[in-house]
This record gives sequence, structure tokens and C-alpha cells, in this order.
Amino acid sequence: MEITVTAIKADIGGVGGHLAPSKAVLSCVAETVDRQGRGMIIDHFIGHTGDDIAILLTHDRDVGNDDVHRLAWDAFTAGTAVAKKQGLYGAGQDLLKDAFSGNIRGLGPAVAEMNFDERENEPFLMFTADKTEPGAYNLPLYLAFADPMYNPGLLLSPAVGQGFTFRVMDVEYTKGDRMIELSTPEDAYDLASLLRDNGRFVVESIRSRADGEQAVSCCTTRLRNIAGKYVGKDDPVMLVRTQKTFPATGEVLAPFEIGHLVAGFMRGSHTGPLMPVKAGTGVSFFDGPPIVCCLAFSLQNGKLTEPIDPFDHPYWDWVRHNVARKAHDIRAQGFSGAAMLPYSDLEYGGITERMERLEQQFQCR
Ligand code: F6R
Ligand code: MG
Ligand code: MG
Repeated sequence: MEITVTAIKADIGGVGGHLAPSKAVLSCVAETVDRQGRGMIIDHFIGHTGDDIAILLTHDRDVGNDDVHRLAWDAFTAGTAVAKKQGLYGAGQDLLKDAFSGNIRGLGPAVAEMNFDERENEPFLMFTADKTEPGAYNLPLYLAFADPMYNPGLLLSPAVGQGFTFRVMDVEYTKGDRMIELSTPEDAYDLASLLRDNGRFVVESIRSRADGEQAVSCCTTRLRNIAGKYVGKDDPVMLVRTQKTFPATGEVLAPFEIGHLVAGFMRGSHTGPLMPVKAGTGVSFFDGPPIVCCLAFSLQNGKLTEPIDPFDHPYWDWVRHNVARKAHDIRAQGFSGAAMLPYSDLEYGGITERMERLEQQFQCR
């Protein structure tokens, strides 16, 4: 059976700052999806990560479907009305356009979706991150799909060992979708050369070379490109199908123990470690640290099981402890050097304005 899984994520307001959505906003989004989605979608799940709400939908209408995207847009719009009424901070923040126009891509919310022939057993993961950018998934994806140090399946499973084809987008290019396809293992070094630059090159999708099936869909939204100015980081959502010809669930999770340093954190302008957290975790320290949640589902004829939270486990408590230490260490150097992002990536204009004024004051001796 052909099934589409669509995940759409947006920040439509936070309680007490950019921390977490309110219960009333979450239930309004859920009620709207439930009511308006009847007869259109097969199943749904609503969750939140930091100040972002994620809507997960299953249906048979293929990717980029107008009605499905409109459903998410309407739910976020209804939620925004509640957020405004409650005085939530940044109400409607990620809804950058006034009206829906056929597809939610380009309107603000982050989208990841895949259409596939459902397997007999269909395990998949939904990752949602806050206070960071889509390129934050580059390293974990590279390690899980192309590095036998993290994915022993590349050595042990003949199907997984055939490698994967990565489709990568140049998200700085604004005149269209500038794409490249690279296949591992033979293109591994070319791929790494692109993926080291999280701000510019982002994995959009990954396919198995054994059967051509899609394993990954990752959002590539850049709010700055849509709005023309800083309106918040692009807090990314990603879907990953696992097992058989794809990496095992644990192989996909493994690289998240690194807590690698990503762009985001306070004012979207700092470097911080990506902390794997339990579902429903808000943000706190220094408007962060950057966080990532994962929910695991199984699918049968488009029906979702209840989610399992793989980061809710004693092993990941230990990881969080280490990552908190890493966050503390980089924060100890405040604005200096690598702790704050370079000019091109600062999400607020204050320093640029300051520099323009100081330029006038410089004199050559
Ligand atoms: C980062 C983020 C926050 C805000 C910060 C200041 O993505 O959302 O760190 O940048 O709380 O927010 P404003 O400028 O709205 O006062
Ligand atoms: Mg926010
Ligand atoms: Mg957010």
C-alpha cells in the first residue's frame, strides 16, 4: 500500500519567552487536525520540541498535497489565534505569509515528507530539533549512513553495504533549488566536503542503493530566505525509515551521542552542542542548548502505533550529562571566537550596525 508520511513543524508562540507552547495551543492544533482531517488523513500525532509544534500526518495523497498542507496551515493558524489570546511570546512567529497558497513550503513551517510502498513492518523515526538549523542533521546522517564506525550494518548486511545516495541542497542559493546527488561509499569524501558546511549544504533525502527506496526526508527551509531578514532559526524536522535495507534504529540514533556543536542557541547566533532530549522537553539554559527529540513509530496501512521515545533511557541521561558539560564549556568563553557565529550567520543585525559605526572611527596611524 502506498502511504505518505508528512511532518510539518512550526513555532507559533511560547510561554515565558521562546521556551515551549502552551497546553491550550497544543490542544487547539490537535483538535483542528482531528476535526478538519477526517476523511483526508489516515492518522496523526501532535508533539512539541522546545517552542515548536510538530504535526505528523499519514495519508495516501502523495507529497506536496494542497489539502494536507492546508490542514497543517489551518491548524497552525487556529493555534496562533489561541497563542495571541493567551499573550504567548512570538505568537504566529513561523507563519510568514498572510494566506495559504497551495503548498506550505515557502510559507515558514518546516516540512519533511515521504511517499513509499509500505513494507510488511514499517518502523520509522521522526526527529524534531529546536534552537538550531537543518544542517544539524548532516553529521548524524553521514555517520549513520556512510561510516562503518557508527553503522556496522555497512559491513554486516549485504543490502546496507551497497551504500546510499544522498541528495544535498545548497540552501544559500535563492533563485531555485540547487541540488547535487552523491553516492557512498565512492563519493564519501566529496560528500564530507559539502556536509562539513552545515549552514550552506543540507541533506534533503537519502535513498538505498540496494532497492532505490527512500530512507530519509529532511526539511531544507531557510526562514531568512523567505522573510528577507532574521525571524528565528529554522528548527528542523526529519523523517527516517529504518531496518532491513536501511540502517537499524540504533545505528541512526548512535551518532547523536556526540552532542556535536551546531549553530543556534541564544538568538540563533551562537555555537552549542546538540543535546538529545526526551519528547516534550522545552529549552532553558541560554535559550537552549540546541535540542533534538526522536519519536519511533510503526506503521500498518497508514495507522500509527503509539510513539516510543528512544532518548528516554538511562544511556541518554549519561549523554545529556556530558553534553551539558560541553555546553557549559563553550558558554564559558561568552562572545569570544568560536562561541559566537561569524558575521554572515548572525541572526541579529546589532553587531553589523555597530561595526559600520566603528569603521568610521578607525584611523590609519
Ligand atoms: C532563538 C530564539 C531566542 C531569541 C531570544 C531573543 O532562536 O528564539 O534565543 O532569539 O529569546 O528573542 P527576542 O529578540 O524575540 O526578544
Ligand atoms: Mg520561538
Ligand atoms: Mg523554535
